[in-house]
Amino acid sequence: MTEKTTNVAAIRDAMPAVTRHVYLNTGTCGPLPRPVEETMRAIAEAELDDGRIVPERYLINSDLKRQAREEVAALLGCSPDNIALTRHTTDGINIGVLGINWQPGDEIITTDMEHPGGQAPLFTVARRYGVTIRTARLGDGGGDVVGAIARLITPRTRLIMLSHLTWNTGAILPVGAVTELAHQHGILVVVDGAQSAGSIPVNVTELGVDVYAIPGQKWLCGPEGTGAVYIADNALDILQLTVAGYSSLAMPHGIEPIGGYLLPKATAERFEVGGMNMPAIAGQAASIRWIRTTVGFPWAFERIQQLGDYAWQSLSELDGVHVITPRHCMAGLVCFTVDGCDPAALVQALWQEANVIVRFISHPYCIRLSAGFYNTEEDIDQLIDAIRRLRKHCSPSTAHA
Ligand SMILES: Cc1ncc(COP(=O)(O)O)c(C=O)c1O
Repeated sequence: MTEKTTNVAAIRDAMPAVTRHVYLNTGTCGPLPRPVEETMRAIAEAELDDGRIVPERYLINSDLKRQAREEVAALLGCSPDNIALTRHTTDGINIGVLGINWQPGDEIITTDMEHPGGQAPLFTVARRYGVTIRTARLGDGGGDVVGAIARLITPRTRLIMLSHLTWNTGAILPVGAVTELAHQHGILVVVDGAQSAGSIPVNVTELGVDVYAIPGQKWLCGPEGTGAVYIADNALDILQLTVAGYSSLAMPHGIEPIGGYLLPKATAERFEVGGMNMPAIAGQAASIRWIRTTVGFPWAFERIQQLGDYAWQSLSELDGVHVITPRHCMAGLVCFTVDGCDPAALVQALWQEANVIVRFISHPYCIRLSAGFYNTEEDIDQLIDAIRRLRKHCSPSTAHA
């Protein structure tokens, strides 16, 4: 496939995992496209054959990193100067949260829908600096999110951290409106974009957010150990380096040991620290490029929405199935429970007996499917058939409730 296509069969052919299994768990880790694996292999082979230290490799590596930043920037609607490459979403959230010059008594607002990857940096600063965390209770995420957050703002609030698309109910949160409110109070906004990047259109410039952290391995179908973070210009002025290295420096060849001072790069690249896994970086750029040029992001977003809607509808029509995901603000993640059925046991049975890959979530205790652009309605139908067949074998349990 060299030109943009909406040919689902060709897309599926390029992603072997999705024809081998009923692959409905991109929210954890997307299937790799062949061109991505080929790109990673080519770089690994070049490193093997040529050695990793021939002088040209420095230039090749810096060009690969530039390409990855440019792909991410085009995806998120910003300048590559506002993008740093990371190892995962959590890295980017840490860069934002730990970069603030915290004072005891400062406050953070977050939500009760955040992934541990978002929560852990918050609790780290809370413990280290005596910062208070206030948590907005959002239910399924489909209600008055802005109001719930607004009620928690005080003169000490310095940061709001929330997901764009919640991992546990599949709700799209109104990040733009939250940011507008936050900025009226001089509060920074750090967004966890783990489930939104590649699944819904995201324009960080229009949203106005300060920090937006994304993974490479989920909806962008890139390698593990890759991610990126958007840092807005104003946040570049505010956020300190928490972890610094030669890649952070304007003069990477060194500073005077005595009397020298650390002059960070002018761009977000200052948040990159040192050497990177170059096959993975090349794969990260390749996966976004492949979706952009061959699949087409607008088509992918539309398809994910259609499949999410189809799954929502099909599951709702099943007797004894309760869909948790709010219909009016969702995309490709759909969360549900099945009466009398332990979610973890059903997830296991779906895998072992029906070759269907979904996952369970602990809070709320439920099953989650992720519909990727490469899925088909038949994939969802197979899940539904398998639930009908297997539910009687999965008795209720309180293990995770
Ligand atoms: C909402 C959310 N945030 C963060 C993470 C952690 O992602 P990463 O491994 O890219 O740091 C996940 C992973 O499932 C997630 O769903």
